[in-house]
Amino acid sequence: MVNVQESSKTKINSADQKFAMELGRGYDAEQQYLQALRECEQQANNQQLKSILQMHSQQTQEQIKNLKQIFQTMGQKPQPIPCQSARALVEEGKQILQQINNPVLKDCAIASGQAKVEAIEIASYNGLIIAAQQKGQKDVVNLLMKNKLEEEKTAAAYGLCLLELSKQAVSA
Ligand SMILES: [Fe+2]
Repeated sequence: MVNVQESSKTKINSADQKFAMELGRGYDAEQQYLQALRECEQQANNQQLKSILQMHSQQTQEQIKNLKQIFQTMGQKPQPIPCQSARALVEEGKQILQQINNPVLKDCAIASGQAKVEAIEIASYNGLIIAAQQKGQKDVVNLLMKNKLEEEKTAAAYGLCLLELSKQAVSA
């Protein structure tokens, strides 16, 4: 993987380079989030939350494959570029979970943390989709769209789950 210093020094002079840089960050981010999802799965208590996390893990593995395919479509080797914002979010999530002992509050923190991740991923995919549309790359747009639609559904599932968990947290 390209290191942080290296990637921050690279000059971006074209829309293609900007796209490749953002795709590389998204590719790294998905891998970081997959690792974090597995950790959340182990710490979750609520059955519904656990099943959303499991489904999300499987989805994320497919999304990583879709991103690999996009690189290949563009004639490039899949290249992750360190995503600092994903790293910060994952670290923050871990820290919060370490601070909570109550199982319901822990589940609330997992669901809201994941919802936050999904919102950022949706915005990132939107940016990539717009750029790929401008270049007329239909195959790339379709793969990105697939990922984005899944993120939207998953975000909604976390939102509903969070609502239920929050009710339990208040009445506990
Ligand atoms: Fe996701």
